[in-house]
Amino acid sequence: MSDVFRIGLLGRGTVGGAFAELLPARAAQIEAITGMRPVITGVLRRSEGDFEQVLEDSDLIVEVIGGIEPARDYVLRAMQAGKHVVTANKQLLSQHGEELWACAREHGVQLRFEAAVAGVVPVIRVLGESLAAADVERVHGIVNGTTNYILSEMARTGCSYEDALADAQRLGYAEADPTEDVNGKDAAAKMAIIARLAFDTPVHLDQVTYEGIEHITADDMEYARDLGLGLKLLGTAERVDGGLSVRVHPAFLYGSHPLASVGGPFNAVTIESESITEITLSGPGAGGPQTASAVLGDVISAMIPPASTPEATQALEIVQDVESAFYLHMEVADRPGVLAQVAQILGLQGASVKSVVQKGLGEKARLVMVVHPLLESKFYAAVDLIAGLDFMRSRPRAIRVIEEEFT
Ligand SMILES: NC(=O)c1ccc[n+]([C@@H]2O[C@H](COP(=O)([O-])OP(=O)(O)OC[C@H]3O[C@@H](n4cnc5c(N)ncnc54)[C@H](OP(=O)(O)O)[C@@H]3O)[C@@H](O)[C@H]2O)c1
Repeated sequence: MSDVFRIGLLGRGTVGGAFAELLPARAAQIEAITGMRPVITGVLRRSEGDFEQVLEDSDLIVEVIGGIEPARDYVLRAMQAGKHVVTANKQLLSQHGEELWACAREHGVQLRFEAAVAGVVPVIRVLGESLAAADVERVHGIVNGTTNYILSEMARTGCSYEDALADAQRLGYAEADPTEDVNGKDAAAKMAIIARLAFDTPVHLDQVTYEGIEHITADDMEYARDLGLGLKLLGTAERVDGGLSVRVHPAFLYGSHPLASVGGPFNAVTIESESITEITLSGPGAGGPQTASAVLGDVISAMIPPASTPEATQALEIVQDVESAFYLHMEVADRPGVLAQVAQILGLQGASVKSVVQKGLGEKARLVMVVHPLLESKFYAAVDLIAGLDFMRSRPRAIRVIEEEFT
């Protein structure tokens, strides 16, 4: 008879409940791999259990409560007591990761967190282990399934943002309160964790600039199609001028970019480096059974030999102002000289126009263009000047465009 491997489960909601169902179904297989039989020996919920007792009765703690406290306190106390921890908590790691990883190293235990980023897509393992020697240059990610579903539906059906959001809520792809999904904060937390691993430098959620999709209109989608572009809420972590930029914002992609075809609630991450060119991982980004599968994968890894997140060896400067190409959407009076004046202001800031679509709408016209990359500060300075021109009928809208195409 093999030894029992005792698991304390903190939280038994969507993910914890699915984990509690999955574990017995896989226990025999795990026993064959590890020589130990995993068993849940204690559960803590708001309405059930005692943390000290759950801790005492376990070899490993699975934290699927979410949020900062009491999750942070429980995770720290578990590691201080010499227990491995598996968590799916992106908010916790993106705000207290260094404290938690230091605690894991100090106490010689594992802290695993595959499910915290992109659900079941194994990006943490790949960055931390498979690509540990790859010298990553840039990571792009679609790491929020709710917003990817909304943008995919807007592109597919021409519907408004509000209708696509209501649809996502009806299908269970969006929470009743979707604020942190649609404003980019959820994706920013995941990109902070990805950046920490890819660039071996501490990154706090506060250092990630983010912008959501609430202002995207059906119009943007239509013009984008004319320009051969598709819209995504894109996370980026990349080396810039010896520093590191980590950001989340809507961005247009050309059709041949590996992330352009990632539709619906899926997540995907593209990792670029000179030595590997480009690797894209994609799959379901959330859901109880899917996330539970990633949690259980971490439990099995923890049952085998140790691995840990080493201390950061670098402290790259976080760069805020980076170069980007832009899509610029303007409602203007339909009269001669408008395009020339806009182009002149852009030119004075060093922006050159790549492509233009112009459509007359009675007294008004829509002028939509893509400009070649320039520093964001310079582009927005030009947009402020353009917004003040007397022929503008509303504030211009700008969305970043990713120029790379992989063929
Ligand atoms: N849902 C997903 O698809 C998904 C995907 C990836 C990652 N995650 C992450 O997984 C974690 C859990 O998410 P979830 O969707 O499973 O959440 P959930 O359905 O809201 O479940 C939370 C569980 O934690 C318990 N809990 C809450 N506060 C507690 C407290 N103060 N003390 C003890 N127990 C407490 C709740 O207890 P009661 O049962 O008594 O209410 C519930 O069992 C989060 O970090 C989330 O970001 C979720």
